[in-house]
Amino acid sequence: MNPRSSSTFRCVLITGASSGLGLEFSRQLAPHVQTLILVARREKVLEGIAEELVAAHPDLKVKVLVSDLTDPEARIHLINALSEDDLYPDCLINNAGMGDYGEFRTSDWSKTEQMIRLNIEALTHLSHALLPGLIAQRGAILNLSSLAGDLPIPDFAVYAATKAYVSSFSEALRLELRSQGVRVLAVCPGPIKTGFGDTARRDSTTKLPVQETFYVPAHHVVRDSLQSLINDRPRVYPGLKVAAVAGLISLLPLAVVRLVMSQRPRKSE
Ligand SMILES: NC(=O)c1ccc[n+]([C@@H]2O[C@H](COP(=O)([O-])OP(=O)(O)OC[C@H]3O[C@@H](n4cnc5c(N)ncnc54)[C@H](OP(=O)(O)O)[C@@H]3O)[C@@H](O)[C@H]2O)c1
Repeated sequence: MNPRSSSTFRCVLITGASSGLGLEFSRQLAPHVQTLILVARREKVLEGIAEELVAAHPDLKVKVLVSDLTDPEARIHLINALSEDDLYPDCLINNAGMGDYGEFRTSDWSKTEQMIRLNIEALTHLSHALLPGLIAQRGAILNLSSLAGDLPIPDFAVYAATKAYVSSFSEALRLELRSQGVRVLAVCPGPIKTGFGDTARRDSTTKLPVQETFYVPAHHVVRDSLQSLINDRPRVYPGLKVAAVAGLISLLPLAVVRLVMSQRPRKSE
């Protein structure tokens, strides 16, 4: 965040704050906000991050809320815990998400269901529950989508479809909330080195079909995302090459996209 934006947000809730992009959002926002609310399942990891952030920024208040966001009851508990603690975020970062790499036919249904619940249901539920406070404070929602949401991807069929939902939902919500002064941004990164690949793999030997040249560092993705939120952009594709690919995809007829995706190297089971 640049100095001009330092007072943009007061209280930010970040889901999936225990690793990857969520941890990076926490670190980049810490010098600029009064309160961070960190949400994920791994309590000890979150507590360690909270200690690190407060040690570096003694005026910062950090609240750790442990929640399995795939569980609707756990989400209700989280939402109630916020109001019990008088925590009313003016920025919601729906970052928690997961993938599953491999054919839909051979997928484990429980993992697929978790992914739909996390990537779609939890993001939608938290947006809905926190919206009154976000509107009252003319706040913002940042939703983690993906470049994958712009494409039908064999071996990532459900993941890509969940991210298509996130991008579409974010764009429509942005239009609905424009008159209320709430910004909504869809962040659509290409590949990033985080814990994502380990969760998406079905076994430890599988390699995700990603070319090294397209990786963008997590700190770069988060910096561009926060800048885009401050600038009230609808969507961002962090990284020049990723943005160029996204631009190209948007120009291609669907028949050409189908042809290109049918030539993509497939995962062998
Ligand atoms: N990395 C990439 O290549 C890439 C590319 C495009 C988009 N994205 C998107 O970026 C977002 C962040 O992913 P990442 O790359 O930072 O991956 P990551 O390192 O695996 O982080 C995922 C985060 O989500 C949390 N999480 C997972 N399941 C959860 C659950 N059931 N309840 C609550 N929290 C849960 C994890 O914490 P706990 O395990 O502690 O719960 C972790 O903090 C995701 O939405 C992903 O789809 C990633």
